[in-house]
Amino acid sequence: MKMWSGRFTKELDSSINDFNSSISFDHVMYHEDIQGSIAHATMLGKCGIIPIDDMEKIIQGLKGILADLESGALQFDFTAEDIHMFVEQVLTERIGDAGKRLHTARSRNDQVALDLRMYLKKQLILVYDEVHKLLDAIVAKAKDNLYSVMPGYTHLQVAQPITFAHHLMAYAQMLARDLDRLNDCYHRMNYSPLGSCALAGTSYPTDREYVAELLGFDGVMQNSMDGVSDRDYCVELASCISLIMTHLSRFSEEVILWCSCEFKFVELDDAFATGSSIMPQKKNPDITELIRGKTGRANGNLVTLLTMLKGIPLAYNKDMQEDKEAIFDSIETVKLCLSAFTPMLQTMTVKTENMRAAAAKGFINATDCADYLTKKGTPFREAYKITGQLVRHCIEKGLTLETLPLEEYKQFSDIFEADLFDAIDIQNCVAQRTVIGGPAPEAVKVQIAELEGRIKMLDTQR
Ligand code: ARG
Repeated sequence: MKMWSGRFTKELDSSINDFNSSISFDHVMYHEDIQGSIAHATMLGKCGIIPIDDMEKIIQGLKGILADLESGALQFDFTAEDIHMFVEQVLTERIGDAGKRLHTARSRNDQVALDLRMYLKKQLILVYDEVHKLLDAIVAKAKDNLYSVMPGYTHLQVAQPITFAHHLMAYAQMLARDLDRLNDCYHRMNYSPLGSCALAGTSYPTDREYVAELLGFDGVMQNSMDGVSDRDYCVELASCISLIMTHLSRFSEEVILWCSCEFKFVELDDAFATGSSIMPQKKNPDITELIRGKTGRANGNLVTLLTMLKGIPLAYNKDMQEDKEAIFDSIETVKLCLSAFTPMLQTMTVKTENMRAAAAKGFINATDCADYLTKKGTPFREAYKITGQLVRHCIEKGLTLETLPLEEYKQFSDIFEADLFDAIDIQNCVAQRTVIGGPAPEAVKVQIAELEGRIKMLDTQR
């Protein structure tokens, strides 16, 4: 029998009961539901809304339910409407009439809004910690590869030489912004909706701020209609997760390329790669492909949430029950992907000699050749044109800029001297780029130190 059955003459159709029920996915919030109810009951007792005796019975009863759920002595009833109804039902069965007083000055509308915020706050911190672990792994790899020269690309065409450390640190910067965004999201979601009740607050002398404080919120939501119908925090968290997944997906795409025999910049550890059922030679980067694929789920969840919200009038509507599966899936997906990616990165071998050899191809130092002329007074556009002609000349003769003799250079400009070969030496090309944010080992060391400081700051704001 439903708790709300008073107004009805028939039992709910059993298939509609299944259709309506959310306990199959919202049972994960049992801890938050019980914790929220304990705080609510404490407030009701303190404010004289229910007798202290009943308050104590409720709190003891709820603690018992929590312990039994955790030990397995109590199982979820998957025919219940949702986790909130389930807990209240068990409580009333166990402690009798006192249990019926728990829902005074509360609605499931503010209850679910509270539980979801608390659950997402907890999950957000778990996601933060996983991103942090990956960041630490990236920084450690970068420190080992400050001098590992590799080609930098634009349009996937060889562009200018960089180092593997520099390349890795670009991802560290993205993930550091992700941590910052997660913190930001946490602080905005950290306001308690409890006390908004169904939509219009209550006439009982409740103390919303007291409950908020008991539950570790920064304050209370200031409008009861907004309190029950706001799901911005789900959208924001889903969006943070979509970006994390996007960053992981881009990184994954590069790892996939780097593993190919055309690149061979890295080799995955055997424990983090898979074979083929027919081709004996294959070693496939499945982890990264799955991450690239799963990014679609995260983006889908974000669109699900935005679309679910866009047309519903204030305040609560049942559409909002659809929030949970979407955001829970994004959370589980990103945690899973991060926990697979980090050890894969930590254990992969970097083939520095292949990176270095690839950097010697494709006239990667052409910009530096033009810069050489520019630094000796030739206007950059003129230097650019001369270097373009030199590259074409080298291609025709099957030479590189390093192997073309100085006499031939001089046919294009008499400014060229023997010091040119130092200027276009690939190691030097990298070492000269000491500008803030550049790939020179000295500049990357500065970048790493700055990032480590920033992350420490973010950790304290968490
Ligand atoms: N299971 C519901 C949800 O997740 C709880 C809120 C139900 N409120 C209501 N008025 N039916 O949204």
